[in-house]
Amino acid sequence: MNSRQEELSNLYEPVQMPADSGAPRPAGDLFDLSGRVAIVTGATRGLGLAIARTFCGAGAQVVVVSRKEDACQEVAAELRAGGGQAVGLACHVGHWDELDAFVAKVYDDSGRVDVLVNNAGISPVYESVGDVSEELWDKVIAVNLKGPFRLSALIGERMVAGDGGSIINVSSIGAARPTRDIVPYAAAKAGLNALTVGLADTFGPTVRVNAIMPGPFLTSIARDWDPDLLAERTRTFPLRRAGEAPEIVGAALYLASDASSFTTGSVITVDGGAQWSMPGGGDAG
Ligand SMILES: NC(=O)c1ccc[n+]([C@@H]2O[C@H](COP(=O)([O-])OP(=O)(O)OC[C@H]3O[C@@H](n4cnc5c(N)ncnc54)[C@H](OP(=O)(O)O)[C@@H]3O)[C@@H](O)[C@H]2O)c1
Repeated sequence: MNSRQEELSNLYEPVQMPADSGAPRPAGDLFDLSGRVAIVTGATRGLGLAIARTFCGAGAQVVVVSRKEDACQEVAAELRAGGGQAVGLACHVGHWDELDAFVAKVYDDSGRVDVLVNNAGISPVYESVGDVSEELWDKVIAVNLKGPFRLSALIGERMVAGDGGSIINVSSIGAARPTRDIVPYAAAKAGLNALTVGLADTFGPTVRVNAIMPGPFLTSIARDWDPDLLAERTRTFPLRRAGEAPEIVGAALYLASDASSFTTGSVITVDGGAQWSMPGGGDAG
């Protein structure tokens, strides 16, 4: 290191970096979550379940969350049966009042939270924007935006007071390419992207906050989609198809682990290239 490099490195608190022996380093170390506690909301199916499985496989203790106690317990039992560490805990993330007690219970039971994945989300269909009721609007905002804000606020502050952590918001490509069929949802997810950047600033430098923007994935959220419209849209995607749930986990594991130690306030797109060919702000056909 020359004297200028030394001067520059003295500007900052030293950062713990893995020892560089010159030998090849096993990539798995970068993604290891051993000893960490990860909350994954909406983990009983779809993208959340895929993320929970991968986090368990990487050594984390996973708190499996959805509205349904039975489903949470069932998934947690499956993960334990597969050799992972997992507990189930029901919570409606759109109910502000439930979140304090939920967070208190996780800290009572597990002692810490290192990773929070705000994955639970809903995208109800509607005929036209005029048919969107206040109830539907409020529900969409509550689950996709209000809940992630409150959970991040409660847990982020505890992470800052403790050992730091990583918060991951599961947004949607709809935030960047809103179409006529998902206007309230797209607005909520765009808010979630803004929240991501604002909370990265709030909780840095010890807590990182990032988002993933998935394109269309074939989970249960897709059950109400028009297959012809999906086929028509995906035909123009660079990868020519919708995603499968396991294809989200690489980005989630990257953001949860030390592999992303210099990544915060980022919104990572995992969409098969959809954003470059999707309508949104133009004629959706
Ligand atoms: N699939 C896609 O094409 C796609 C595209 C872009 C973004 N996303 C986003 O990715 C995330 C996961 O989507 P997905 O496709 O995996 O959805 P999914 O298959 O419908 O699963 C949703 C999960 O969230 C839970 N959930 C729903 N409402 C909840 C609430 N109020 N409180 C707690 N848990 C709740 C569900 O369980 P219960 O119903 O039992 O509560 C379930 O575990 C969502 O945020 C979604 O917006 C998905």
